[in-house]
Amino acid sequence: MREPTYTGPAKGLHWITALLVFGLLGIGLWMTGLPISLLKLQVYAWHKWIGLVVLVLTAARLLWRWRHPPPPLPDAVTRWERALAPAGHWALLLLLLAMPLSGWLMSSAAGISVVWFGVLPLPDMVPRDTGLFESLRTLHYVLSRLLILVLAVHVIAVLHHDVVRRDGILRRMWPTGGK
Ligand code: HEM
Repeated sequence: MREPTYTGPAKGLHWITALLVFGLLGIGLWMTGLPISLLKLQVYAWHKWIGLVVLVLTAARLLWRWRHPPPPLPDAVTRWERALAPAGHWALLLLLLAMPLSGWLMSSAAGISVVWFGVLPLPDMVPRDTGLFESLRTLHYVLSRLLILVLAVHVIAVLHHDVVRRDGILRRMWPTGGK
């Protein structure tokens, strides 16, 4: 009998988010070092727009997860993994909310309103405030390093399950895997 898997929408949201987040991390690390230029402004704008797409996708994911909980872990998974796996997943989900929210707050505190994809003006979350901007910038930076760390653990854990233990954990989330 085949193991149960995540639902189609959960898989779709997972892989689209993964692609966008890896892109955002790469762009984020690159763009801050660019000299002031039109390119820098455009890259910052796209970083913000796509970051906010991740916010919407993560909110949708949480709603979907509320009605469609993840499938139970296979019996082969140990007791400590059973406790740690959900903690890691919740840490990732919280970071995927905190990253875009801190970015949006930072942009507002800098006095730069976000016009989503150049068409939808979004409200400012806080009034312009240089001190607050600096704190939020530090927060966004620290959260990004935390996200990289938790993502690295997540990917290494999945690879360990797939390559060493071969217990089908990756198949549960793979687009074509499972039943
Ligand atoms: C999941 C979503 C996001 C991720 C993973 C992400 C990631 C990053 C990373 C890695 C950096 C570089 C930090 C550094 O090394 O200094 C960065 C910078 C930045 N992000 Fe994001 N970000 C996200 C969402 C957003 C959003 C939604 C906004 C604004 C609406 C935003 C605004 C900014 C700005 C303005 C900077 C540059 C800060 C500076 O100039 O020092 N980010 N982001």
